Amino acid sequence: MSEIPTRAVRELTIRVLRCNPAEPEQTPEWQDFRLEEAEAMTLFVALSLLREEQDASLSFDFVCRAGICGSCGMLINGRPGLACRTLTRDLPDTITLAPLPGFELIADLSVNTGKWMRGMSERLETWVHDAGLADHNLAQVEAPMDPALAREIYELERCIECGCCIAACGTAQMRENFVGAVGLNQVARFRLDPRDTREDADYYELVGDEDGVFGCMTLLGCEDLCPKDLPLAAQIAFLRRKMARA
Ligand code: SF4
Ligand code: F3S
Ligand code: FES
Repeated sequence: MSEIPTRAVRELTIRVLRCNPAEPEQTPEWQDFRLEEAEAMTLFVALSLLREEQDASLSFDFVCRAGICGSCGMLINGRPGLACRTLTRDLPDTITLAPLPGFELIADLSVNTGKWMRGMSERLETWVHDAGLADHNLAQVEAPMDPALAREIYELERCIECGCCIAACGTAQMRENFVGAVGLNQVARFRLDPRDTREDADYYELVGDEDGVFGCMTLLGCEDLCPKDLPLAAQIAFLRRKMARA
């Protein structure tokens, strides 16, 4: 009986960009950690081991470890991605990790995506504007939705607000108030919702400028790197056509 070949255990070099804005006298620098790779090791496991065994001051964010909460986005060998869904076996022996650009840095790999997302959400009013709610018209509020439309809305609601599309977008890096693919995806989602009583002209007020649909230069990094594979480019192109006519 032939033996199953075993993979040689690798020693990984995990190079982390260390920076703590709370200690301005420290300059940002790369720090190398060495770690023995384990079977099915994710970057979450690797970073947790480094923090437990080598440097308790290492900062990074995780909550769900399952690609749901969106808190573990970081630059992995230069590309935005979710650390909890990234296996070290898919990466070379040296792995560089840096914080997502475009967000306020908390420390090391931890950035404040929540503050950015809240600002975007308030600006775009990403909640259902339902006239039935104001009129206490429960029949209108609870009207059944066509299942096919509900599925279409659900598809766009899969966004976990991880920020990878912002970090991957050249426009977002140059234009501070650009709402990015995540914001435009939200507009597309509420525009689809039959309970939302806003018209295209109302959405035009929100995103009909260079910080919205007309700022997008179709660079497509958002769609290429969205960990939830959302159809971002199609949504943005569709909105742009609608806004051009509004
Ligand atoms: Fe993350 Fe994709 Fe949502 Fe952007 S659109 S925040 S990449 S899940
Ligand atoms: Fe940016 Fe995506 Fe447009 S990467 S420029 S939002 S297509
Ligand atoms: Fe929640 Fe990675 S820890 S998405």
